[in-house]
Formats: sequence, structure tokens, C-alpha cells
Amino acid sequence: MTVAALSEAAAGRDDLSVWPASTSRLRHGGLSVGGVSLTEIAERFDTPVYVLDEGEVRARCRTYRDAFPEADVLYAAKAFLSRAMVRWMDEEGFGLDVCSAGELELAVTSGFLPERITLHGNAKSPRDIATALRLGVGRIVIDSPSEIARLAAAVGPDGRQKVLVRVVPGVSAGGHEKIRTGTAGQKFGLSLTDGSAQHAIARILGQPQLEPAGLHCHIGSQITEVKPYVAALRRMVGLMARIRDSHGIVLPELNMGGGHGIAYRPGEPALDLTALARRLRTELLESCAAAGLAVPRLAIEPGRAVVGPAGVALYRVLAVKQTGDRGFVAVDGGMSDNPRPALYGVRYAPRLVGRSSTAPDRTATVVGRHCEAGDILAADVQLPGDVHPGDLLAVPVAGAYHLSMASGYNLVGRPPVVAVHEGTARLLVRRETLEDIRHRDIGG
Ligand code: LLP
Repeated sequence: MTVAALSEAAAGRDDLSVWPASTSRLRHGGLSVGGVSLTEIAERFDTPVYVLDEGEVRARCRTYRDAFPEADVLYAAKAFLSRAMVRWMDEEGFGLDVCSAGELELAVTSGFLPERITLHGNAKSPRDIATALRLGVGRIVIDSPSEIARLAAAVGPDGRQKVLVRVVPGVSAGGHEKIRTGTAGQKFGLSLTDGSAQHAIARILGQPQLEPAGLHCHIGSQITEVKPYVAALRRMVGLMARIRDSHGIVLPELNMGGGHGIAYRPGEPALDLTALARRLRTELLESCAAAGLAVPRLAIEPGRAVVGPAGVALYRVLAVKQTGDRGFVAVDGGMSDNPRPALYGVRYAPRLVGRSSTAPDRTATVVGRHCEAGDILAADVQLPGDVHPGDLLAVPVAGAYHLSMASGYNLVGRPPVVAVHEGTARLLVRRETLEDIRHRDIGG
């Protein structure tokens, strides 16, 4: 390698652009997040461990509030939920989007006002609906015609529940085929183009227990461009105007879902939230004016962009080897705490922390400890050539859809979550122990 290429590799190795803003370099290759050394966290809480920068989560909430002052911003709990997260969202003035009785109960029992919660789901169980009605959830999103009469019956003659209709606007967007939900041929929502969304509104109007509060759409996830949102909004406003024309009602709310994309590796694009807010606002005003429609209250539901970049996964290297022409670095976590590379082919940028190395970089594949060849955390990444067992590897942008999708594979147990803030670390969710796992299996 030339000197220039060497320093370029070293710069790449040291690029902190996708790390939380509070990240700083310490001596001897150390790194701190939220004022706490990652090496100390690994020693105190053991590995694997997920670190969540509270300040970064809150700063991201404020970016949303500043960009969308006139809208309701709901945090999509499926990205990551814990009691502390519920409290932070409450303090930051967010609403919540939940999709199960479990997420809903956790939020409400942590003190979150049920009126500020919206319940989603393409297949809500009787328990989901009973819990939502018992706790007094603010809005329920209708996802199929069959749930309209069922929900009305569950509300009962004296009640009234606000509902939104989930619409498939026919706009395709999203970072992977499995997370594109804006067009027909996937399980969510009711089509705008074939008339089923409008038909659902007619059926809701026939149920006095249901109050049609508005329309909802979520076109996909990990979207990095503003354009598809603008196209979807235009179509949604068109549908609102048609609903007014045929049913004589003006729906007061329009929820445009989440899906705001983030960078997982340096140099990757992220959605520009300020541009999104500006373009949505302009399009909303213009298309409502053109249709002679009162401007509905806008809501958005980001998950990943609130919490993803605030999380860091810390692993200990357990084994290093070369097989064929590939070098493997195996760590003490894997697909049970992060199934995303296996599911969506997502690429991460792990980094050595807690030790400085002058060894030139080598291409390595970071794998997990699970008994499966597809248990790959980061394929073909550059790591110092002297990485060895006992080293610490950190994976940034680990806050969303890791632990919320964690599994019990190989009975390894799910990692703990540690919050860091202003120089202190505190445990939010403890590690799942073998005893926890044994307890569930009653041995019958
Ligand atoms: N609203 C609704 C109705 C949703 O279904 C979702 C995500 C969101 C909001 C939040 O989307 P976000 O802003 O987080 O992109 N497991 C996948 C992502 C699945 C997203 C499911 N729905 C991943 O790891 O990339």
C-alpha cells in the first residue's frame, strides 16, 4: 500500500460520521459515547451489550419537532421500546405508534397518555383490540374491511372510537423489497386505486361507534428521497377530496407514516428531514387549495431515524481465523441480536475500540456465534490486521430494529441495554439470563 492509501485507510477506519454526535476519541484507541468510555461499559455490563445515547435520541426528537412544528410526531415503537424510551418520547412531546397489546401495555403502564397512541396492525388479535379499548387508545388504524364490523361490535353501543384507514397509495419506495409497503401486492392497507379504501370509509360511516378521523399511509422504510412522500401525499389529498365529494365528510387528519432513511455506513445517504417537512407542507397547502379542501392535521411516524443512530452494539471477539481466502472475526453476539444483515442484506461498519493498532487493515467478515453459516454481521469490512480474541468491536447505528427483532436462537439470551448520558451509564433493560430461559420452559 502507498503512504497515501495507508492514510486514507486509516482515515476511513477513524470516520465517526455515522456515530452519535457525542462520540469522542479517547487515548489508546478508546471511544466514548454520551461521555462514557465504551471499554468501561463492556467491563461493567459485559458483552454483547447495546448502548443507547439518550442525548442523541432527544436531539433527534428536537430535530423533528423543529422541522414539523405544526404536525403530530409519533414514535414508531416497533423500532425499539423500553420504559425509558417511552418516558423520553413523552418528555419530548411525541405521540406513539404501537402495533400490539404488548407495546401498548408497556407504554401505558409506563405513564404514557393512551389518547396520544395510535394502534396499527394488519391482523389485530381480539386481545389487541380489547386492550386498546380498555386502555382508551387514541386511534385505531383499520387495515382490512373485515375488522370494521368486528371493531364496532367490540366498542359497544355507548362507545365511540376514532379510526384511520390505512391506504395503499400506489407509490413504491423503500430500502429493500421486504420493507416496501406503498403498492399493491403486499399485505398492508386498502388500495386507493381500486376503490377499497373509499369503500372502507363508507362502511365506517355506517357504524356509529366508529369516528372516521382520517387517512393513513406508510409507503415503506429506509427511504432516502423526499419525492415518493410528496407523490403519496398528493394522492392521499386527492382521495380525501373524493371522500368529501361522495360522502360529504371532510376528514380532519392525514398520517403519512414513517420510513425516513438513515446512513448505516459513512458516505451513505440519509433522508433530509428539513427538506421533507418543507416539501410536504407546500404540497399539502397547494393540493388542498386546488381541491378546495380544509387542510388536515398532518402526522408522521418515524422509528428508525429517531433511535437507530443513537445505538451502538458492543461485542467481544471470541475467535479469528482464515478459511480459504476469507478472514473471519467471530464475536459473542450475532443474528439473534441483529437479524438485519441476514434479512435485508444491510451492511454495517464495525470498528475496533479500546486499543490502538498500527497494523494495516485487512478485509474481514465479522460473524456471530450462532450455529448457522448465514450468521454474518458485516461481510468484507476493513479491520486492523491484528484483531484478536479479547478485542472489542463496536457496531454503530444499532439502535433500531436490532433488539426489537432479537430472537432466542440457540438459547444465547438477549443482550442488555445501557443508556449513556452526560457521563453516566445506567442499565435500562437487563441481560436475559439462562435462568429466564429455563423458567419459561415448564418441562411438561
Ligand atoms: N409506521 C408504520 C405503520 C410502520 O409500519 C413503520 C415501520 C413505521 C411507521 C416506522 O418506520 P421507520 O421510520 O422505522 O422506517 N425491520 C425493518 C423495518 C420494518 C419497518 C416496519 N414498519 C428493518 O430492520 O429495516
